[in-house]
This record gives sequence, C-alpha cells and structure tokens, in this order.
Amino acid sequence: MTDLHPRSEDVAATQAEALGRLAAGLAHEIKNPLSTMAINLALLEEDCGRGEQGEPSARDKRVLKRVHTLQREIKRLETIVEDFLRYARGGSVDRAPADLVQTIREVLDFVELEDTRQGIRHHVDLPAGLPLVMLDTGAFKQALLNLCVNARQAMPDGGELIVRAVRTGQQVEISVTDTGVGMDPDAVERCFEVYYSTKKGGTGLGLSTTRRIVEQHNGRIAVLSEKGRGTSFSIVLPLLVEIHGKKEDA
Ligand SMILES: Nc1ncnc2c1ncn2[C@@H]1O[C@H](COP(=O)(O)OP(=O)(O)OP(=O)(O)O)[C@@H](O)[C@H]1O
Ligand SMILES: [Mg+2]
Repeated sequence: MTDLHPRSEDVAATQAEALGRLAAGLAHEIKNPLSTMAINLALLEEDCGRGEQGEPSARDKRVLKRVHTLQREIKRLETIVEDFLRYARGGSVDRAPADLVQTIREVLDFVELEDTRQGIRHHVDLPAGLPLVMLDTGAFKQALLNLCVNARQAMPDGGELIVRAVRTGQQVEISVTDTGVGMDPDAVERCFEVYYSTKKGGTGLGLSTTRRIVEQHNGRIAVLSEKGRGTSFSIVLPLLVEIHGKKEDA
C-alpha cells in the first residue's frame, strides 16, 4: 500500500536535508570573497613591507599591523567555513573489512610525537586476534583523531592518555581516556552538540563529527567525565561475523 501522507519525521528529515544543502551552498559562496580579501591583503602587505628605502615607514608599520589582524580573522573564517563544509558534506562512508587495532595504532603514531612534547604519556592496551570490523578507515581515523586532539587540549600540562579496545561478544569497545581538566555536567550533556565549544578558537564540530562517523559505522559513543579528574569516551562497534556463510556486521 502506498502511503499518501508522509510521516511528520520524514517531512522533518527532508526539511533538515534541504536546510543543510542551503547552508552548505551559503558557506561555499562565502569562500570566494574570503579568498579575494586574502589575496588583496597579501598584496597590501607586500606594498607596505617594501617601503621607499627598503624599510617600512612608521605609517606602513601601523597599516601592516592592521593587515595582520585582518589576515588572522580571515584565516579564522576560512577554518570555520572549511570545517562546516566538511561537516555538511560528511555524507556517506565507504566501509570495508579492516583491522581495527592497526587503524587505532596509526592514529596513535600520528599524535604521539606532539603528545610526548606536551608531557602526555600513552598507555595502550589493544587485543590480538580481533575479528575484522567494517570500517571506512579514513573516516574512522578522523573520528579517533578528534578524540585524541580533545584529550591533548584537555591536558595542557601533560598527563596520561589511555587507549584500550576490549572485545565483548560480537562487539568491540574502544575507549579513549585522559587525565585532563574534565567537564562539568552541563558540558557532558552538550559536548556532542554541533558548535558547542568551551575553547577559544574552537569550532565545536569535532565531537559531533565523531559521533556521526561512529553512527555511520552502526556504533554508539558515550562519555564519562569528572571536572578536574579527566574524561573517557567509549565507542562500541559491531564486529564482522559470519551469518549463514555471509559476513555481516554483528
Ligand atoms: N577530552 C575532553 N576533556 C574535556 N573537555 C572535553 C573533552 N573533549 C571535549 N570536551 C568538551 O567538549 C567541547 C566540544 O568538543 P569538540 O571537539 O566538539 O569541539 P572543540 O574541541 O571545542 O572544537 P573543534 O571543533 O576544534 O574540535 C569542548 O569544547 C570541551 O568543552
Ligand atoms: Mg575538538
């Protein structure tokens, strides 16, 4: 039977999609004038920097200072627009059977150098012989990286980053725990919201992107945190198991 009356949640989903497309279009339109401004500011910077005798005059120095302020603000706007577009585009993932442990290790290798520099020690506990997981490895690495970067930012004076994966039946739970500043209950409640950020210069898209990627992998993400003590994010993913001779997500 054909349903002539679309359900209200279908209408809402279509409206949200249309709004998302409009917003992405708007963000895209903002990019062009921003790059024109950046180019002209770079030319102005060059003009003022050169000066008559090779040294900028006092007036040129004042102009240069303002040019640099404008350049910083343009960079900030560009980052906001880029992050938004990445989020809006997000769309689909392309999953294939993959080695989760290897994927986690690659992310940790990527962040280790900077973490060490900041006095953050890694403690890693990953199981051997874990069944494969259906992963879009690029997207999943991004999801984990967002958690690791947040953990680093929560430990400006160093600390411990504990990354574990534990198999429970047909699922695997990955946890990323830090001993950083932690969150108050309001932040715990809101941290996955788009644009929720308590950081200077933060866009607040990191965790909402992570959550979306995890859900695109048929997984769930949760957080536990205590102000002043630390934070733990946990992701539960289905393992790839044999169902009637066909491999499927558990
Ligand atoms: N490990 C953590 N420890 C403490 N607070 C955290 C942690 N992870 C996230 N938060 C809180 O959740 C907020 C949202 O995080 P999210 O990653 O979405 O955005 P952000 O880090 O502020 O900005 P960005 O878009 O650059 O990632 C943070 O601003 C912070 O208040
Ligand atoms: Mg973040």
